[in-house]
Amino acid sequence: MIDEFRRLYGSAEGIRIFRAPGRVNLIGEHTDYNLGFVLPVALQMATFVATAPSPDGKLRLYSEGRQESAEWPVADIGALRPSHRWTDYPIGVAQELIGAGFAIEPLNMLIRSSVPEGSGLSSSAALEVSAALALLGDLQLDPLELARLCQRAERGFVGMPCGIMDQYISIFGREHAAICIDCRSLEHQVALLPDEVALLAVNTMVKHELASSAYKERTEQCAAAVEIIARQFPGTASLRDVTPEIFEQVEASLPPIIARRARHVVTEDARVGQFMQACAAGDTERMGKLFEASHRSLQHDYEVSCDELDFLVDAALALDGVYGARMTGGGFGGCTVNLMRPEAVAHFREEIHRLYFQRFGIAPHIYFCCPSSGAAEVKNSENIPAAT
Ligand code: GLA
Repeated sequence: MIDEFRRLYGSAEGIRIFRAPGRVNLIGEHTDYNLGFVLPVALQMATFVATAPSPDGKLRLYSEGRQESAEWPVADIGALRPSHRWTDYPIGVAQELIGAGFAIEPLNMLIRSSVPEGSGLSSSAALEVSAALALLGDLQLDPLELARLCQRAERGFVGMPCGIMDQYISIFGREHAAICIDCRSLEHQVALLPDEVALLAVNTMVKHELASSAYKERTEQCAAAVEIIARQFPGTASLRDVTPEIFEQVEASLPPIIARRARHVVTEDARVGQFMQACAAGDTERMGKLFEASHRSLQHDYEVSCDELDFLVDAALALDGVYGARMTGGGFGGCTVNLMRPEAVAHFREEIHRLYFQRFGIAPHIYFCCPSSGAAEVKNSENIPAAT
């Protein structure tokens, strides 16, 4: 990456490289903006930003994947408006940093990513967090503040009303473990996965148009549920406060569609706790059943799945050695996450590829998910994947 940087900018003097991973969420979907629980894993697939001081007062970005560049005098950055392109992620972060009192230095940046875009593996947060670290350089920002700052950039400048999960796991990810985040207290607990499981993500290779408008609509429906429930249970500030028992009492007073949305969130939050218990007990069968229950709830109550995801889940569940499968991330395309015996992996890959291609005429990409560490400066550039 250093050679490419030198070729692009003429010099690599003072170069530093920062990495931020993508993620796969094991369980707890659409619960983060309801201040509940999530259980993501940071991936080896990550975004890398190589950066060095630029001599001419400008911030310059080059995306290898898109083969696109952009530049601005640093003095103009605070006043930029969203352009609805990939540059909104780093610029949104830069504006939040300015807002937090940091100065943006003139820098050249080269961006390389192995997180597939639009796959529900959180390429956006990986870009935000790696760009934030590159912009900060030696300046220190508390990791939790960094996660919140990147989330604000996405909610504000980018305009996607996301929860904190993606930015948080990209920063706090751990090798060999999942992280159970309490999205209200913003504390987390490390969850070690049993040895005898393999985790694979399967990419549908589709992203339906609906994704971002439906996401916003779901956040509004959850807020509507909270408003109605709070009339009967005044302490209710988010769906996190609604226990399954409370939900049973209020369900009939909610409009049917709002009731279904709330039911997903309430049951999904409970499933995260149950999954943590099953995981600690090494009960892989139960972990798999909870995956499946989560998917059905997303499919029928929250209605954020799609034919491609449902097909992949059903196909996976019919295979030997597969404990469970579910959609992961926002939905309407992107990936499924699959929990299986390690011996089942080879047959799984082959069959899923064959079946999906036969049904949709698309070759799915399949990724082995190996829990990795969170964002940091890269000290050994040998660990950086080659340009694709
Ligand atoms: C997207 C958002 C996250 C989360 C998931 C759904 O990935 O960025 O904050 O809401 O969808 O669980």
